[in-house]
Amino acid sequence: MTESNQEGLSNLLHEERRFPPPEALAAQANYTADAYAEADKDRLAFWEKQARRLDWDTEWSEVLDWTNAPFAKWFVGGRLNASVNCVDRHVSAGRGEKVAIHFEGEPGDTRTVTYADLAKLVAQAANALTDLGVGQGDRVAVYLPMSVEAVVSMLACARLGAIHSVIFGGFSAQAIYDRVLDADAKLIITADGGYRRGKVFPLKPIVDEALAKGSTNVARVIVVKRGENEVDWDASRDLWWDDIVGRQPDTHEAQAFDAENPLFILYTSGTTGKPKGILHTTGGYLTQVAYTHHAAFDLKADTDVFWCTADIGWVTGHSYIVYGPLANGATQVIYEGTPDTPHRGRFWEIAQKYGVTLLYTAPTTIRTFMKWGDDIPAQFDLSALRVLGSVGEPINPEAWMWYRRVIGGDRCPIVDTWWQTETGAMMISPLPGVTATKPGSAMKGLPGVSVDVVDDTGTPVPNGGGGLLVLTEPWPSMLRGIWGDDERFRETYWSRFADEGYYFAGDGAKKDADGDLWLLGRVDDVMNVSGHRISTTEVESALVSHPSVAEAAVVGATDPTTGQGIVAFVILRGDAADGGEAMVSELRNHVAKEIGAIAKPRQIMVVPELPKTRSGKIMRRLLRDVAENRSIGDVTTLADSTVMDLISSGLSTAPPED
Ligand code: WT7
Repeated sequence: MTESNQEGLSNLLHEERRFPPPEALAAQANYTADAYAEADKDRLAFWEKQARRLDWDTEWSEVLDWTNAPFAKWFVGGRLNASVNCVDRHVSAGRGEKVAIHFEGEPGDTRTVTYADLAKLVAQAANALTDLGVGQGDRVAVYLPMSVEAVVSMLACARLGAIHSVIFGGFSAQAIYDRVLDADAKLIITADGGYRRGKVFPLKPIVDEALAKGSTNVARVIVVKRGENEVDWDASRDLWWDDIVGRQPDTHEAQAFDAENPLFILYTSGTTGKPKGILHTTGGYLTQVAYTHHAAFDLKADTDVFWCTADIGWVTGHSYIVYGPLANGATQVIYEGTPDTPHRGRFWEIAQKYGVTLLYTAPTTIRTFMKWGDDIPAQFDLSALRVLGSVGEPINPEAWMWYRRVIGGDRCPIVDTWWQTETGAMMISPLPGVTATKPGSAMKGLPGVSVDVVDDTGTPVPNGGGGLLVLTEPWPSMLRGIWGDDERFRETYWSRFADEGYYFAGDGAKKDADGDLWLLGRVDDVMNVSGHRISTTEVESALVSHPSVAEAAVVGATDPTTGQGIVAFVILRGDAADGGEAMVSELRNHVAKEIGAIAKPRQIMVVPELPKTRSGKIMRRLLRDVAENRSIGDVTTLADSTVMDLISSGLSTAPPED
């Protein structure tokens, strides 16, 4: 936890403002305060009730089998098809003409997809994948822009019991190669390109580059035409989506799969350089994403228009663009591009155009809009909005208040939802019809979720105390493991509080005087940049893979817009240039090439030494002091106490170019 977090803490624990739910919303809310009592009384019965919101082919015989902890089985023996639950059942229920997706492309093209349309598209894609030999348990990598095809690809995999591994479109060829190898994918679905900031960014060329890095088992690459950019073509491997999918029959008989059939792998950064393939399965995951979407947003499927601004490449997109909203039969907006293209009012223009009622976005986006000024959203009619969600990082009280006042017209409850790739679905959040919210607090565990804040020994801290966030009971959408690495799964999440059997989330948290929760950010070497998780080690490895770098240390420094910014300290090799601007920019580009543009350091400082303890551990705390322009803290454990003077005097920095 950084010192600036600590400082903010004393303020936030004195937060006096309370925002009770609007009466009209409370009067017709999907969940009332009784839900907490009901779940407390019998947690498993509560989850069973949530699971019944889905269509099952075979009912489970046991709600939870935790005998082989930490490997959970939920809804044991139950069978269902996730794709049927997200699509077909709404059509069968006579809601086929209801809009599932309002797609808005960045250049302004639009596409309306009803549930009946979606059923046909998914059936065609499932038939195409079957033709190409994809079946239950096979891994399919998806590297697509925000598009209808991304949703369809994921649902087509789910329909066949195949496992999708979506790779965010901003990741590099190297990152794709690593993920394709780790999951042993046999097929990749990509596009020629997508639109971002008025330009086409290439995707297929990056996939080509990834597959040229070494041998993989990828036999086929399906390519959606979107960017109309030039692409190279390998006729023995590449297929246009329209050719292979477009000609298929638009019906497909789906089969039910075991509740524990793997649904997807999604890679996320851990504290080592190697990303973890987080594994989610079908029944429990779908139960909890559908329930939380229904509860935290008070979704009224017949009238609401939901918009989650995340990318499908992250877990937020998986759970709250694809599986949660579609399982609930909601109507939603999907937008391809950035909020400032072609103008800074684009989001609000879209919200107005589709009459968005429920909005889910990230604090970094909210802070960006704050910076752009109140007058921009003021030009649009946002009166349809009724609930506003936040996710990805702690939301500071100023941003919370601004979101409430300027976007929510002082009438919409804000749900600050804490969860992780690993938890699969929201865990901590207010209920909009129940909770009197406090600006900056995620409040408490949702009904059915057991969470606590404990000290180093695993003892719960009293109200007013701070410590580590833990989940004390298993939950349906919990990760079932790390792909191919059971040991890392136990070690990362379950070893810290092994005696208590708690899941260690990696976040610091505080309980205020009422016992409400305030999230304080990561306690490990994971940075949170614009709501994206990036490990310091991953960026360090990328830097030292450059021939001119001898050593590197990376820290996340507080950033007013992105939450944290990546600051790197590098020692160059003797024969390398002496830290000129050209070298710094070469290194930034090198990181982008190794990982992706999201990991580009905000700042690189060329230094003669790094501060280390006598045992050789880099003291990141001191580097953070430098990066955040603070006076240097306690240096008594440094092996060489003159190092910090050397660093401070010899700094060579370059401002970010983008
Ligand atoms: C980490 C998980 C959850 C989907 C997006 C990120 C941080 C997430 C909040 C919140 C404070 C939050 C935590 C967590 N985080 N939501 N509402 N308040 N912190 O998923 O990439 O798996 O990252 O994001 O530090 O551990 P992720």
